Amino acid sequence: MKIITTIKECISYLETCSRPLGLVPTMGAIHNGHKELIKAASKNNSTIVTSIFVNPLQFGPNEDLNDYPRKIKADLTKLQGLPIDLVFLPSTEEMYPDNFSTSINVGPISNLLEGKSRPGHFNGVATVVCKLLLITTPNNVYFGEKDAQQCLVIDKMVKDLNIKTKISKVPTVREKDGLAISSRNIYLSKSERCSATIIYKSLVLAENLYLQGVNKPKLIKNAMSKLIKSVPLAKVDYISIANPSNLKELGVLEDNALVSIAVFVGKTRLIDNIYLKRIP
Ligand code: PAJ
Repeated sequence: MKIITTIKECISYLETCSRPLGLVPTMGAIHNGHKELIKAASKNNSTIVTSIFVNPLQFGPNEDLNDYPRKIKADLTKLQGLPIDLVFLPSTEEMYPDNFSTSINVGPISNLLEGKSRPGHFNGVATVVCKLLLITTPNNVYFGEKDAQQCLVIDKMVKDLNIKTKISKVPTVREKDGLAISSRNIYLSKSERCSATIIYKSLVLAENLYLQGVNKPKLIKNAMSKLIKSVPLAKVDYISIANPSNLKELGVLEDNALVSIAVFVGKTRLIDNIYLKRIP
């Protein structure tokens, strides 16, 4: 497993690598969700690159950029046993030199849900992912469904900009009690960790109501909200039941829907989602 920190070296190393090449972009604090993406990449690629870069452009001024877990040594140990050829580990200055000024805005989809709560977030995500795609020129890139809106934003960017890389999405990896694995889960105290299970429980409630034939998103959202209110440490930021391709809120449930939720558990903001599909 080679470790490279400069863009120049990364480009020249990858020029001679065997293809197909798969990229798994991460911000580090490697966990089983990331590992599942790497596993998926290993099935379809001869060379696998993982990037670790805590991207300042996707954090708002009052967000957790400074506290975000940076555990490079532990991360490299975790990655050691996996089928990875290259870890690309650039510094902030390497990615964004002093005169850097470009920002990619993929338009309306980036202003809904996460984009509404975190203005500018997806411009930062799109800009860094575009750079990573141009630097590594992968045949395939892997993203987690845990960040469903991120997947849609990247889909749109790749389509609009005619980027040739194929995007693959990997289902959300969960803890045994259902909590979606996230680098931010380490912020949770013991009681907050306990409370955080309400997030997945609310998504399961939504799915059950849907399967029972409830077709008014409003009723489902109210039930989820009520359930979450029963946990004192949890506070809903938003609940959305939307068309999975454009994130437009649904007035009546259709055969496919994406339920997305953002919840503060104490000070930690966690997101999760579930796809609703009518069983034929
Ligand atoms: P990060 O949060 O480190 O996540 C890296 C990738 O892992 C993303 O595609 C994310 O959706 C996926 N992932 C995280 N938790 C997961 C889980 N429990 N199950 C499945 N996949 C999971 O997302 C980012 O970093 C950044 O925005 C990035 C794309 C790297 C751009 O900076």
